[in-house]
Amino acid sequence: DTPLRIGVAGLGNVGATLVRILQKDGVELTRKLGRQIVVTAVAARSRSRDRGVDISGLEWFDDPVALAKSDRIDLFVELIGGEDGPAYAAVKAALEIGRPVVTANKALLAKHGVALAKVAEEAGTQLGFEAAVAGGIPVIKTLREGLGSASIERVYGIMNGTCNYILTRMGEEGISFAECLKDAQELGYAEADPTFDVEGFDTAHKLAILATLCFGYEIAPDRIHVEGITRISQADIKVAADLGYKIKLLGIAQRSDGGIEQRVHPTLVPKGSAIAGVDGVMNAVALETDHVHELLLAGPGAGGPPTASSVLSDILDIARGTKVPPLGVSSAELLPYKQAPMRAH
Ligand code: HSE
Repeated sequence: DTPLRIGVAGLGNVGATLVRILQKDGVELTRKLGRQIVVTAVAARSRSRDRGVDISGLEWFDDPVALAKSDRIDLFVELIGGEDGPAYAAVKAALEIGRPVVTANKALLAKHGVALAKVAEEAGTQLGFEAAVAGGIPVIKTLREGLGSASIERVYGIMNGTCNYILTRMGEEGISFAECLKDAQELGYAEADPTFDVEGFDTAHKLAILATLCFGYEIAPDRIHVEGITRISQADIKVAADLGYKIKLLGIAQRSDGGIEQRVHPTLVPKGSAIAGVDGVMNAVALETDHVHELLLAGPGAGGPPTASSVLSDILDIARGTKVPPLGVSSAELLPYKQAPMRAH
């Protein structure tokens, strides 16, 4: 077989880690797959920045759209970020010419995901986005392939590693919000603009994507009530602890009278519950269905290696010729937010 040639746009934490893994484990991956996988080209803002990865032998593109359309690659990986701009233009350009795309860009998908999935379906190609929700946890695969005919009643969870890391350390070590956020940024967990993390928007993007897969309606992040963690103080965490609770930033989407309710807010969870035990950069997604009752998937939710690993799992699926089912979006009634934000879950 001819090698699968990969073009990677965006060499931040996840992009650089992915290139490093593909270079280091290329032989092992080739053996597993029976086909060689190679990164042949990259696009990023600065060519000279030291990213701890050797890109000297790779073809360089200044323009991600040119990379996406180049006939020198077979699969395009978008790790630029941002809901519009070059990420959107490049993903769309690749899909339109029938080229498979893998992205970790939740903001892009929350805004354009259904439209992009339609472009992919019409062009007979694949759009992989496992890495966009809950970092290293295979939640998209579980939702699309793992639940059979089960009907999902509710999906909820901890979907932002940065916030969970901050809340955990504020609680356990009494360290200030600002200091915890700085550490999360240094560890490569936070978004380029950490407001997206701490104000809850990143969780809302992920919740919108999950809710579309669970309930089959258009992604609508603007119908989600969003409150982040910036107003949580040490005193809040202490009072919650005294009452037997931890504070977690949860995203929740559920069937409710007359429609689907979606919200993101700091939530009191009872100590001793499974979700309360998910600490640090870990994420967890709970799926409540009619058949299996509750399924809780937990694992690392942010950071280079777990996220790159999910990107790689999409690449391998596409290389094997696995076809994901169509999104099957219809319209359902989306409820405006109507609950009191801080309450026991
Ligand atoms: N900033 C995100 C988080 C990265 O902290 O969860 C993973 O999507």
